[in-house]
Amino acid sequence: MSDQILIKEVAPRDGLQAQSKHLSLEQRQSLIESLAITGVPELEIGSFVSPKAVPQMAGTDVLAAQLPAAAVAYSVLVPNMKGYELAFSAGMRSFAIAISATEQMNQNNIRKSLEETFLMAEDILERARGDGVDIHVYLAVSFECPYEGPVAPQTVLAQAERLMRCSPARLMIADTIGAAHPQQVRNLMGELVSRYGSADLGCHFHDTRAMAIANVYAAIEAGIRQFDSSAGGLGGCPFAPGAKGNVATEDVVLLCESMGFSTGVDMPRLLESVALLSEYMGAPQGGRSHYWLTRDSA
Ligand code: COA
Ligand code: ZN
Repeated sequence: MSDQILIKEVAPRDGLQAQSKHLSLEQRQSLIESLAITGVPELEIGSFVSPKAVPQMAGTDVLAAQLPAAAVAYSVLVPNMKGYELAFSAGMRSFAIAISATEQMNQNNIRKSLEETFLMAEDILERARGDGVDIHVYLAVSFECPYEGPVAPQTVLAQAERLMRCSPARLMIADTIGAAHPQQVRNLMGELVSRYGSADLGCHFHDTRAMAIANVYAAIEAGIRQFDSSAGGLGGCPFAPGAKGNVATEDVVLLCESMGFSTGVDMPRLLESVALLSEYMGAPQGGRSHYWLTRDSA
């Protein structure tokens, strides 16, 4: 098993997309510049979505046109083929697509049925293969849906099987509303790793029930080495009521590095990004370890 853990930093997208405070393009740009030099290997800069649906993400094309030169792989979220085309025209070549495990979540999030969403994902994956674009497929609400309740592991396993047939660059199992517990994570991720290996699998956790970092640990134990997280623990989905912040990047880095994994993330620089976010949001941001990590500067 690898001694590295790969983190995709999602604060500029998942972090900001549901906040009542909307950052300006200049602030989003400064946040991206700050995060790009933390050493995190992947950075999601925003989404190509309808500005009517998610005004917080309007203008992501402008940000895509002025990405700072840094040793980081940039990506964006696209909800549909139109978003794919806009992101492709903007020069991006790594996209996240969010498809949900339940009918109601797809309807609320992207106004498509479950079956239409899977057909769309298959279309996008085929198109991406020809275009040389990497697609990370997110299976949202993989544990519990805010509209339909708990999601059976058998449902997720069957959906994962259908998606893996299209060879996405990565399949991300997402606990969109932060409802999973470590035993569920260990079981589901263990089964997925036994079927597909861990190279193309990852997890995305929210911290609604204070179990996100425990879920990261359980996924690591199951062999997962790729995680999303958000600086300062900012995050939420505009179409998933009750979803709280993402697991904080600094907590994930602390956990992984304590366990002997390397993440490449420079903690002081990451904490500078968290401070910037606190300034922009007008409220203190930070994961569970924030006090301990900043105790000398407090
Ligand atoms: N980017 C920008 N505009 C888009 C778009 C995209 N990816 N997809 C559609 N649109 C525009 C259309 O051009 C159309 O514009 P018009 O009203 O000026 O003619 C309008 O949106 C409606 O198009 P339609 O295809 O009917 O979309 P919809 O109203 O069914 O909305 C989504 C579908 C996916 C665009 C919308 O629900 C959305 O952006 N959701 C965001 C989901 C999200 O980000 N969730 C959080 C992360 S998981
Ligand atoms: Zn999320």
